[in-house]
Amino acid sequence: MIIKKAELIAVAVKKEQYPPDNMPEIAFVGRSNVGKSSLFNLLVNIRGLARVSGSPGKTRTINFYEINGRFRIVDLPGYGYAKLSRSVSDGWGKMIEGYFNSRKGLVKAVQLVDIRHAPSDMDVLMYDYLRHFKLDGIVVATKADKVSRSELAKCFDTIKKTLNLTGSDALIPVSTLKKTGHEDLMAAVDSLLEADSQVIKE
Ligand code: GTP
Ligand code: MG
Repeated sequence: MIIKKAELIAVAVKKEQYPPDNMPEIAFVGRSNVGKSSLFNLLVNIRGLARVSGSPGKTRTINFYEINGRFRIVDLPGYGYAKLSRSVSDGWGKMIEGYFNSRKGLVKAVQLVDIRHAPSDMDVLMYDYLRHFKLDGIVVATKADKVSRSELAKCFDTIKKTLNLTGSDALIPVSTLKKTGHEDLMAAVDSLLEADSQVIKE
């Protein structure tokens, strides 16, 4: 797929602010600071379209990006940011749940985990949650530049075991620094959209 156009069409904290539910959507989920916004920028090849930050908790809203007028990538706020106050993290749960519960166009979630660490309890909870909604199946291991080739297999193993991935689940290493892996993810997104367009929706 060649991305000709990518634009931020809505920034939402509540349903009334969502764009119309009339297009396939792929959501990016993951711990705060794992690299969701960076990966999105690399995918669309527009530096700075999504705001990136060294300090966690940068994205606090649900950001809808429309790609080629054909589908959307939805950049969700990260979870597990310890410094968030209780009321903010409660609000986060409601915001995410409100989105997952109501979106007919939501085709799949891409869950990002840091390649260097075993997925956290929150990551595991999130993956099980996605499974419940049948949105599981694509995991991206971010910051692949931080591990050596020889460490890669062990890191993969830890991620697979901790999240309890099955053979058909995709685990894709990416590095926004080295600009690698994003094409594999795009190919996965492409085939999802292809399959989705063949589903006749009620
Ligand atoms: P929130 O918006 O807080 O949920 O974070 P996020 O998941 O959107 O993370 P973001 O893209 O803002 O990146 C967080 C930090 O990780 C930034 O300092 C990025 O430069 C860095 N980062 C992201 N991807 C990579 C990568 O592939 N390699 C390395 N080395 N650093 C990365
Ligand atoms: Mg972000």
